[in-house]
Amino acid sequence: MASGVKAYSNGKNKNIRLYVCKDYEALSKKAALIVAAQVNTKPESVLGLATGSSPVGMYKELIKLCKEGSVDFSKVCSYNLDEYFPIEPTNDQSYRYFMNENLFYGINIPLDCTHVPKGNAADIKKEAADYDRAVANAGGIDLQVLGIGGNGHIGFNEPTDTFILPTHVVDLKEDTIKANARFFASIDDVPKRAISMGIGTIFAAHSIVLIASGKAKAKAIKDTLEANVNPQVPASILQLHQNVYVVIDEEAASLLNEYKPE
Ligand code: GLP
Repeated sequence: MASGVKAYSNGKNKNIRLYVCKDYEALSKKAALIVAAQVNTKPESVLGLATGSSPVGMYKELIKLCKEGSVDFSKVCSYNLDEYFPIEPTNDQSYRYFMNENLFYGINIPLDCTHVPKGNAADIKKEAADYDRAVANAGGIDLQVLGIGGNGHIGFNEPTDTFILPTHVVDLKEDTIKANARFFASIDDVPKRAISMGIGTIFAAHSIVLIASGKAKAKAIKDTLEANVNPQVPASILQLHQNVYVVIDEEAASLLNEYKPE
């Protein structure tokens, strides 16, 4: 166990391994070790990747591990969860740009084996269907990395009345637009729509690592792990998955009451 990391389990969700880390740095290291172990066990792994501020520390750690020769991404391929729509991949607010800058340029993954939904596709519905087909043709996702929105969204699967299974086009909720405005010059510049892997695409991953840090995520983490599974908290579907790591810091864990030290 990495230092500053405590493992917890829960009678209800034995499939979820919860790691509560001292701080963001410990969380990033722990999550990076999970990804590196996946790639070392299966060098041709298919990784599902996420954007947002949560995985940035984990990506820095993976770059370090790769540069020191502890992990080799040369046979890995990746599929990202989501992208704004419409947006050009060269726009510095696009998720393609984010992934290039925060991970891909720093590791030895072949860039043409990295996939991010095309936010500038002429036919975005076709792009969504093609994306699910491409993931399936690659053999499915071995390990999916997830962050979480304050409202419990994963990818851009916003709270809804039913779980939306395939990759699809989404109208972003006002609170998501507000939360993401911090990366744009003004809130009016935030795209109002996105293309996102669906809940079914995410759920089909062989294993999943969800990362979250800070008090602002504590309620979403509590609802994800302890509320009834329901589409108003999209991440709660993870309670039904067979192989989930939840790697969070003490602040994000602060509202949990059902988990006990292992
Ligand atoms: C965006 C992304 C999600 C991400 C979420 C949280 O909405 N589409 O994939 O998990 O933001 O981001 P952050 O990690 O910056 O809090």
